[in-house]
Amino acid sequence: MSNNYPNLFKPIRIGNVTLKNRIISAPTGLMDLTPDGRLTRSNMSYYELKARGGAAVVTLGESITHTETGESHNRQIHLDDPNVLPSLTHTAMAIQRGGALANIELSHGGKYGGIKSIAGELKEDRIAYGPSSEDLPTGEHVHEMSVEMIYKLVDCYRDAAAMCKTAGFDMVMVHAAHGWLFNQFLSPVENRRTDEFGGSLENRARFLMLALDAVRDAVGPGFPIELRMNGDDFIEGAMTLTDYVELAKMVEHKVDLINVSCGSHEKDDLFVRTHPSMFHEYGCNVYLAAAIKEVVSVPVACVGGITTPELAEEIIATGKADIVEMARALIADPYFPKKAKAGLSEDITPCLRCFECLHHLVTDTVIRCTVNPVIGHEIDVKYFKPEPRTQKRILVVGGGPGGMQAAITAANNGHIVTLCEKDHYLGGVLNFAKNIPFKHPLFEFAQILERRVHTAGVKVVTGQEVDRSYVEAMKPDVLIIASGAKPTIPPITGIESENVFVATDYDKIIDRPGQKVVVIGGGLIGCELGVHLGMTGRDVTIVEMRDCLAPDSNSFHRMALMAELNKYTKSYVGTQVVEVTEDGVVCKNKEDEEILIHADTVVLAAGMTADTGLYEMLYDSAPEVYPIGDCTKVGQVLQAVQQGYFIVREI
Ligand SMILES: Cc1cc2nc3c(=O)[nH]c(=O)nc-3n(C[C@H](O)[C@H](O)[C@H](O)COP(=O)(O)O)c2cc1C
Repeated sequence: MSNNYPNLFKPIRIGNVTLKNRIISAPTGLMDLTPDGRLTRSNMSYYELKARGGAAVVTLGESITHTETGESHNRQIHLDDPNVLPSLTHTAMAIQRGGALANIELSHGGKYGGIKSIAGELKEDRIAYGPSSEDLPTGEHVHEMSVEMIYKLVDCYRDAAAMCKTAGFDMVMVHAAHGWLFNQFLSPVENRRTDEFGGSLENRARFLMLALDAVRDAVGPGFPIELRMNGDDFIEGAMTLTDYVELAKMVEHKVDLINVSCGSHEKDDLFVRTHPSMFHEYGCNVYLAAAIKEVVSVPVACVGGITTPELAEEIIATGKADIVEMARALIADPYFPKKAKAGLSEDITPCLRCFECLHHLVTDTVIRCTVNPVIGHEIDVKYFKPEPRTQKRILVVGGGPGGMQAAITAANNGHIVTLCEKDHYLGGVLNFAKNIPFKHPLFEFAQILERRVHTAGVKVVTGQEVDRSYVEAMKPDVLIIASGAKPTIPPITGIESENVFVATDYDKIIDRPGQKVVVIGGGLIGCELGVHLGMTGRDVTIVEMRDCLAPDSNSFHRMALMAELNKYTKSYVGTQVVEVTEDGVVCKNKEDEEILIHADTVVLAAGMTADTGLYEMLYDSAPEVYPIGDCTKVGQVLQAVQQGYFIVREI
């Protein structure tokens, strides 16, 4: 028995397989498959990495059982095309090579297979089939699925499951949650049929039950079938926990594991509950799994916002669920399970729940992660290792996320590294997150990087300004400049007043007794600080020149943030600050009307400007000089960390 998290690392039997621990890598789909629905080698490496990190099971995301009607996103695995088999087989092999069981989620988008969905805009001109016909406010029409089509899709589930078993998968998951096909049939709001597939819960569940039987037919007795279902739709008139408890009792003899999720992929306010945002409690949906576990004897898995081994252990130890599933936590750190088991929890890179992973999936199609530079580059990291390598003396200037990552990468590659920071502490911009509970994982990330800096044997010099003479005296072979950015100070009368604080000095702001706060700048940082100040009971007004708040945020985080802004702040958009006075802030709106907002504290969050000075001064002071992060182009933590990792990897 493992001394660390003994319940989490206890094996469990599911159908005819034994899971080595209670951690399942929850289904995550990728969007950079081939257009004909095959996984690429790079996709395989992504899943393999998760397996290597120690999860018992790694689950592929939504894989479509009938492409013509069911594909809800632009690129998904086409389980009805036999040509997909080789890539499925290679993926199952990759996961098993990594030491995990391979699982795949069988899905169909229902009506979203024919109308626009998040990341499914290329599919919108297909014919949409749902449980009942409807005209959507968007002008799109959904056709009622015929009984013939229902039986045809049941056969598709059978064939898809058979192909996955042939490909070598150890399990299959049937997706009945998140607003897709079976969830639509289960919902009395969406399903208004009067035949044997509508009306009572028994009728609404009939399609799902037939599909589960067909899948069992295909895979045979004992082969583990996992069902992903909601524990609550959180939609008025739709399925509630009470209904799902009944459903769980109906399906338990047909499946080997029930995974309880909630909400909907396609409704903005619910998306951030299905994938709990940083404003939600950790494990906020676990109670749904716990309620279902009470009434069934088949094992139950929970999911949603579980990001620490402590929480995962507590869930298993207290019997709320038998298994925890994690998606984003295992993107942030695929080695979470191995580190937890080995007593190295302090080194687990925390998930920020910042939604950059999903944002990149649906915009540029390649998954990435703010805190894990390897995600999206797994195959490159695996195969392209620069050789030969000679030991070099490297000086890194700047102890923010990019500089720390650069120092760690360089030292781990055998170089002799010194990291200089002008402040008396490391962390740079990440330190502002220290006092903000919903941003705290960002501060924890800084602490983890700092620990890794020390473990890697980097010499750290704090309180040290670096100039040309310092570099000339040290004579490094390589100089890495990660001097970051400085706050933009707009030319506003009174901006230098004593009641004005730049956002990066957040510890000074939060310590002030003032109650009335104006935030100048409604970008992401200004909005997040405004929300937190509002949460502490202050009266907060955000003033933004542009026409909306947080336009620089990714769309998923913005959905969650807007709800908090509405709760905790007031705002003026399209409004310019013209003067800061002792009484507050004078603004002008687009109609040129003057507005006075009273404030005892003014927070300046007008953006950051690249601090190019040091690079311009030192660009030729060593044989190799690399600027990374914000010092040449202001970006996000994601870019700084990636540059610190990849540029330095080549040295
Ligand atoms: C990048 C990404 C892709 C996802 N793809 C799928 C998917 O294909 N099918 C699915 O059922 N859930 C999918 N999910 C949802 C997760 O399985 C999980 O239910 C959700 O993220 C909440 O868990 P977490 O808080 O541990 O991330 C995805 C989540 C992420 C972050």
